[in-house]
Amino acid sequence: MLGPVQRWWLTIAIVVGLPIAAFAEDWGMGESNAKVPPSSVFRPVSTPAHEISTVALFTIAITGAIFLIVAGLLTYSIVRYRARPGQDDREPPQVYGSNPIEFAWTTVPVLIVLVLFLITARTIYIVQAQRQPPAALSVRVIGHQWWWEFRYPTLDIVTANELHVPLSDPQGSTPTFLDLESADVIHSFWVPRLAGKTDVVPNRKNSMWIDPQVPGTYLGQCAEFCGTEHAMMLLRVIVDSRADFDSWVAKQKRLPEAAATVASGRHVFESTACVNCHTIRGTVADGRFGPDLTHLMTRETIGSGVAMNTRDHLRIWVADPSVMKPGVLMPAMGLGDKHLDELIDYLVSLH
Ligand code: CUA
Repeated sequence: MLGPVQRWWLTIAIVVGLPIAAFAEDWGMGESNAKVPPSSVFRPVSTPAHEISTVALFTIAITGAIFLIVAGLLTYSIVRYRARPGQDDREPPQVYGSNPIEFAWTTVPVLIVLVLFLITARTIYIVQAQRQPPAALSVRVIGHQWWWEFRYPTLDIVTANELHVPLSDPQGSTPTFLDLESADVIHSFWVPRLAGKTDVVPNRKNSMWIDPQVPGTYLGQCAEFCGTEHAMMLLRVIVDSRADFDSWVAKQKRLPEAAATVASGRHVFESTACVNCHTIRGTVADGRFGPDLTHLMTRETIGSGVAMNTRDHLRIWVADPSVMKPGVLMPAMGLGDKHLDELIDYLVSLH
């Protein structure tokens, strides 16, 4: 049996050691995410997020003031009227039915709740009543276990996990409108610096909009428990200047040029089960169950934000994705080393 001291040390080792073990291999994500400003609802860069941040700060100010008053009076009473040695144990005079006090502590909370209700209703109206201006970009967002599909119906582009949108003009006439659907279970689309959460529900279309005013990368995540890899259903929104966005669009619309040197890898891809789940435009692969890989190498991450998109990581991923993402629905393909290397040569040519 362990003595009490050893038990303490064991507990400390487990509490400290488990998180370290969990972060031991993050496939380069920690380093990459450290370059992105942290996701915070209090650092909004888009109108819906601004509105939510304002209402949150207002609510915190009011409830904080209530807390200070109540806690202050409580502390004062506890200290001032504490039992002292030598006192008798008679009860103090009991006071019932003071009309002014009853009136005050009924009306004041009602007024506070009314103010909170009105400012919340105003915020919901500003966020929900926005009509889609003609110059807005439309994107269909489809939640899958455990990744995000982004389809741009007017641009004929399909991508995954990394949503590119243009910077909104200062007048807010070029926002991005998102229509959200689910391919399976309930997910929730959340990029804290751009907008509030929007549930992504099967057999239902929800919509939301953003008008980002600062270019950059914004981290988001699925915010509704949706199964084993819910925590690894991450996403990035990349807000590009108009020129950068246009050149990204032009690149995405092109078919990838498959070099002759990767023909054997393309053959491996086209002759295995890969094609049932993935699309690569210009090939026989037109599956919809997994991410579109047409321009795989234009994305920074793989596995919905589980690893940086490098050749080594891709090789580990394709050999057995559950090494990086336990429970992932993509199977290990069981390719031999030669076919695996050829396939990876082909995948890293998909710019
Ligand atoms: Cu999707 Cu949680």
